[in-house]
Amino acid sequence: MPTVIDELLETDGTARLLADRDRAFVARPTERIPVAVAGGEGATLIDADGRRLLDLTSGWNVANTGWNHPKVTEALLKQAAQMPFSPPWCTHDGRSRVAERLSDMLGGGYRALCGATGSEAVEAALKVARRATGRQAVVGFTEAYHGGTLGSMHAGGVPQLQGVDVPSTEFHRHAPIPDRLRANGRDYAELVRATLREQPAPAAILLEPIFTNPGVIAGDPEFYRAVQQTAREVGALVIIDEVGTGFGRTGHDFGFQHWDLDPDIVVVAKALTSGAVPMAGALMRDELSAAVSGPGFSSTFGWVPLACAAALASLDVMESEQLPARAAQLGTLAIDRLRPLIDAVPAVADVRGFGLELGIEFTDAAGDPFARPPMEELTSRLLRRGIFAEPSAYTSTLLLMPPLVIDEDVWTGALDAIAEEIVDMDRAGAWV
Ligand SMILES: Cc1ncc(COP(=O)(O)O)c(C=O)c1O
Repeated sequence: MPTVIDELLETDGTARLLADRDRAFVARPTERIPVAVAGGEGATLIDADGRRLLDLTSGWNVANTGWNHPKVTEALLKQAAQMPFSPPWCTHDGRSRVAERLSDMLGGGYRALCGATGSEAVEAALKVARRATGRQAVVGFTEAYHGGTLGSMHAGGVPQLQGVDVPSTEFHRHAPIPDRLRANGRDYAELVRATLREQPAPAAILLEPIFTNPGVIAGDPEFYRAVQQTAREVGALVIIDEVGTGFGRTGHDFGFQHWDLDPDIVVVAKALTSGAVPMAGALMRDELSAAVSGPGFSSTFGWVPLACAAALASLDVMESEQLPARAAQLGTLAIDRLRPLIDAVPAVADVRGFGLELGIEFTDAAGDPFARPPMEELTSRLLRRGIFAEPSAYTSTLLLMPPLVIDEDVWTGALDAIAEEIVDMDRAGAWV
């Protein structure tokens, strides 16, 4: 069945050719995103035929500083000419500078274990926690996503949603994510306490401060207090996955700063380099670094000079353009503008978010998530208006996560377009 992009691509040959070649030679996990991208600037992606799309995904929370920020590009070009890669057994100027800067952002006293992807850094955090505590068990959350490697998939509770059969192990158990709409009287704080207290005693609890992929779901302050206090009580480390929520996205440097959390390990990736070069880290308290020894902790492409140059430039941009504050302001504006939809359209169950990590959740008359068709119709309608946004996997929630540099007028224009399409679908009886 042709997709909207197929229809769009009909108008010209280049992007169509690239999409067809991709279909022929690339094993793709999703059919949803056959946009052939050739460039980008700010919040805009430019396809191979020069069409401009407003990107409300930031490439999955990567392009926080916008696509191709000139300061990041300048740093990359300079470093590429000098030394893009260094032998993993050498150090270089950028590595310790990024590590020190991240430690400072966390209030000091953290050391970085270097990797390239978010999944790898989640695995690294789990290895450190296991080595440091001498325990194997890890508590995660149902529906949470922490990566595509086996360890990170075990730690997250969504193997079935990822289409991969991951056998369960006795070392992984999951508490329910604090999904307010589906609480049915459950006390999520109590449930996480109980899961942490089960045997075998856990090495760690792993969570996103705001569960992004399930649909921007967050607990109440009591939930996070339960996580922190009970973890301490049972001797488990608190690992916070900031792969998606870090670097200004939620209105703070890090998402956990919304809560009373004091993490032992913070996992970062994605927006650290604005996506220019893969780079990820498990930032651990100083004393945990004694657990890091042996080849099982090394990474050939962890924090190469090119990545560190991009990271330092991205952190500079985040600071000088005050992107966390900007995300907070534009996020509040969005919530104020979209909240009236809850009363206006029966299918809109919730409008929520932190900073520029926002979700509009839709449910059917029974309060259940919609199957794909209406969500696909919505994203298709938006694509026709030049807006690219994606639904989440677990709840039928439209995720709105634009680059934090998005122009305010462009943002309000997009929000109005989204509201119009949702209302129009309601009038057309499409939310069934
Ligand atoms: C919260 C979270 N953790 C970990 C990962 C894995 O990161 P990567 O795809 O870089 O391996 C992702 C990826 O989307 C993520 O959203």
